[in-house]
Order: sequence, then C-alpha cells, then structure tokens
Amino acid sequence: MPVIINTHQDFSDIKALLGGGDANKNKVNVISVQEQFKRPKTTMISAISKDGFIAKDANDKLRWVPKEDQLWFRKKTIEIGHLIIGKKTFDILPKKALEHRTYWVYTRKIDKGHVAVLDENIYLVNMEPAEFLQYLGKKGTKHVAIVGGKAIYDLFLHSASLGRNNQKTGLIDEIYLSIVNHTLQTGIKFDLDFVQKHFIEVKSKDVADSESRDLGKFEWGERVKYVRK
Ligand SMILES: NC(=O)c1ccc[n+]([C@@H]2O[C@H](COP(=O)([O-])OP(=O)(O)OC[C@H]3O[C@@H](n4cnc5c(N)ncnc54)[C@H](OP(=O)(O)O)[C@@H]3O)[C@@H](O)[C@H]2O)c1
Repeated sequence: MPVIINTHQDFSDIKALLGGGDANKNKVNVISVQEQFKRPKTTMISAISKDGFIAKDANDKLRWVPKEDQLWFRKKTIEIGHLIIGKKTFDILPKKALEHRTYWVYTRKIDKGHVAVLDENIYLVNMEPAEFLQYLGKKGTKHVAIVGGKAIYDLFLHSASLGRNNQKTGLIDEIYLSIVNHTLQTGIKFDLDFVQKHFIEVKSKDVADSESRDLGKFEWGERVKYVRK
C-alpha cells in the first residue's frame, strides 16, 4: 500500500512514521496528490453549419453532416475511447455509434453526485464536470471526448476547474470543429464567440481524413483544431 504524501521532498518529518532512521533508505512510494487526481485530457468535437448552428432543433438527426465527417468522428472517438454526451443526443444516436466506445450520459434522472451503470459500456452521470473528470482520472481514464449536445458543450466549456478560486476557466483542452458548407438559418447555436476568445486555432495533421488531403479540408467543408490560449 503506497504512502500518499502531499509535501516537499524533505522526508525528515516522516521519520517517526517510518520508525526512525534514514527515511530515504526506506522503500516508500511517494505519490503527489496532484498526480493521483490528474483529470483526463478533454477533447470537444462538434460539427457546425456555415452559419454557426449545431442542429436545426433538439431532435435533429444531423443528416446535413456529411458522411466523411461522420466517419472521421467515428475514427476519432474510437481512438479516444470515452465519450461524454447529453441524454437528448444519446437518445437520437444511431445504434452503430455505440460500438467500441464507452458512453458517459449526462442526465438529472439519477441522484446528484452519482454514476449509474446502464449497460456494459453505457453509464449515466449526474455530477459537476470537474468532480466527474476527477472521478474518471482516479479510475485511470486518460482521455475523453465531449460530443454534445448544446447543454453538454456549454456545461464543460463554462464550468470552473476545481482548486482555481472557482474561476470559470472551463475544462476543455482542445476542440475539433467541422465547419460544414451548409446553412441552417435557424436552430441551436454553438458558442463560437467564447471559443474564439479563449482558444487559438492550430495547424495539425490530425484534422485531415487522410495524408493526401489538404490540412483540414474535406469535400463539404473544413475541420479546425483549437487549443487553449
Ligand atoms: N452538430 C453536432 O456536432 C452535434 C453534436 C451533438 C449533438 N448535437 C445536437 O444537439 C441537440 C441536442 O442538444 P441539447 O442541448 O438539446 O441536449 P443534450 O445536451 O444532448 O442533452 C441535454 C440533457 O442532458 C442532461 N443534462 C444537461 N445538463 C445537465 C447537468 N448539468 N447535469 C446533469 N444532466 C444534464 C439532461 O438530461 P435529462 O433530461 O435526462 O435530465 C438534459 O435534458 C440535438 O439536436 C443534437 O442533434 C449536435
């Protein structure tokens, strides 16, 4: 059983605990609290119309999102492995989207502060985002994708990180935005202003579907990657 110590490297103050002698010579696994509670990396993924909407309405099955972007989404989310999703979006997902991934479905239908098992790879969650990411970190989860819808994007974009004086710094490390060459004119808006204020666009190979494509370009639009400023 490791001894967990959140302290400086001077072991003299724990000599008593170890029964005296040179503490450095005793076999002690020192794990910093910060390391133990490290939250997973967070990647937000969304497709938006040219005029900035993520959906026509809450029941939109996203048929305007091109097939090649859906395939990229599948590949990327299988690679990440864990998806955080709102109950409304989960309910309209095609069954095939459930394969090879673990879903953490946000809902208020279970008690606050709890996680419930729905199926082998599907869990229900009702926790503060920062608290939930710590929970996943403790379980050893290294990476999660936040895949919408609107309520869940906003929740994770605007939530406070734990231990940072409750500042609303958000909990998203990077964002992939597929800008689809299609106008919806009305619907549910993505908070692009917030993203452009707090994130910066970066050039990255992993926005492309294949090596042969121009960075980020696909037949129906363009994919952009943002990281925190
Ligand atoms: N373009 C894209 O890339 C993209 C991606 C995903 C989704 N979408 C679209 O987004 C639309 C749905 O978005 P939406 O905002 O209506 O729904 P949503 O975010 O998918 O789900 C909302 C539900 O999540 C739960 N929830 C929300 N906030 C919560 C909190 N703080 N704690 C616990 N549970 C919480 C509630 O479930 P309960 O009601 O069960 O309590 C709420 O009804 C759909 O049209 C979908 O197609 C677009």
